[in-house]
Amino acid sequence: EKPGLELAVVSVPSYACQRHTPLLHHNTTLTDALSILAENAELSENEGRGVAFRRAAALLKSLPQEVRGAEQLRGLPCLGEHSLRVIKEVLEDGVSHEVETTTHSEQFKAMKALTGIFGVGAKTADRWFREGIHTPSDLQRSGHTLNRAQRAGLQYYDELNLPVTKSEAVAIGQIVERAVHAVLPGAEIILIGGFRRGKQTGHDVDFLITHPDEGREEGLMPKVVSWLEAQGFLLYQKTTRNSYLESKEGPARPASNMDRFERCFSIFRLSTDNEGREIQTGREIQTGDDPQTYSPTLTNTDPHTHSDTHPHSKTDSHPLPQTLVFPKPQTSDFPRLPQTPDHAQKVSWVLGHSQCSGPRSWRAVRVDLVVSPYSQFAFALLGWTGSKLFERELRRWAVHEKAMTLSSHALYDRKRTQYLRASSEEEIFAHLGLEYIPPCDRNA
Ligand code: CTP
Ligand code: MN
Ligand code: MN
Ligand code: MN
Repeated sequence: EKPGLELAVVSVPSYACQRHTPLLHHNTTLTDALSILAENAELSENEGRGVAFRRAAALLKSLPQEVRGAEQLRGLPCLGEHSLRVIKEVLEDGVSHEVETTTHSEQFKAMKALTGIFGVGAKTADRWFREGIHTPSDLQRSGHTLNRAQRAGLQYYDELNLPVTKSEAVAIGQIVERAVHAVLPGAEIILIGGFRRGKQTGHDVDFLITHPDEGREEGLMPKVVSWLEAQGFLLYQKTTRNSYLESKEGPARPASNMDRFERCFSIFRLSTDNEGREIQTGREIQTGDDPQTYSPTLTNTDPHTHSDTHPHSKTDSHPLPQTLVFPKPQTSDFPRLPQTPDHAQKVSWVLGHSQCSGPRSWRAVRVDLVVSPYSQFAFALLGWTGSKLFERELRRWAVHEKAMTLSSHALYDRKRTQYLRASSEEEIFAHLGLEYIPPCDRNA
């Protein structure tokens, strides 16, 4: 008998939104293998297959202990034939033949490299791959006409593929807060996406912006973007206006999973200095800048206490302080950030920058901004905290188990033919008949 209880005796519910899925779990070898296959399916535009592997991986992430033998998995949901086969192989041989073949395949490597360019999706990457373009350098040499996003993606390729650290996310948050408060005092800025779930790194930083007086948030994004641009904080931005009001499908019935909030996909210019310290200045300090509202220095002690220790804490929804008076920083006061990588040295300038002399004092960071009306705030917060699979499972649960439609704007009850209001995530889970799952346990 292998050690470990028969996991199936612990009843595991089948929707990821019914389970607690922490960031750190006991089955990474297995979930890494399944994630490769999921990624490969997604890159091959086989969404169904991708979701099947993602669901299997998410199930394993939620288990209370390490799986040592396939017999422990008997009776557990979400494990399809293919996933089970891969799991067994990894448990017995340490590796899966299919996973090995995939990671070494030219197509997978090329598709990953090409979709790693901001602005390039699987369709475009596949077309280029079939033309013999396998790397960003190949693309650069090809002379293909690229759109603005792709040009920026290529220009900052290396940096945008370096993980964004928590300290960098906090530094970006302080800039965003400054920008938002400069154009709309009283607005609230909340860190969302992976960082809200407790991740220590991310591929970008996501923020949700709202204002307690409904309507005040309208048209906010262009003003924030102008402010950021004037201060030299933006290397790229594409703002999409709110298309929710004029849409015909109705709030909870979007034509796609894409929501209609006013949003901005951007690339920030985050200042760093050569010693791995960070400052939040864009260009030079503008003359006439009020010293009282000048950006704060970054204190390395993470102000956001993780919800892991107090999962139901209300403060978790507001990881960034709402009101701060920032003293004008003295250069010598900048605290050291031990965990900040020296990006200037890490980045190898394979694309375009090779002529630039010496290390730079800034790096490019992907940032997503979303603005929501206060009445939709809880839905936006829930919808933008992720993970992507957790969101998908919430919507699937709503439709199939509750005859409701959930979006990042609203929740619609199809039996009672009415919208269900909510001013917190807790209320939305309650409407859906689900136990509340805190952000740190939504890492499905
Ligand atoms: N999202 C969305 N619509 C989009 C993009 C993202 O609703 N067009 C939501 C997704 O539900 C996702 C969250 O916003 O969970 C954050 O997206 P993203 O930044 O892509 O993922 P993260 O979970 O933050 O992971 P990472 O650390 O890689 O950024
Ligand atoms: Mn993110
Ligand atoms: Mn948290
Ligand atoms: Mn994002």
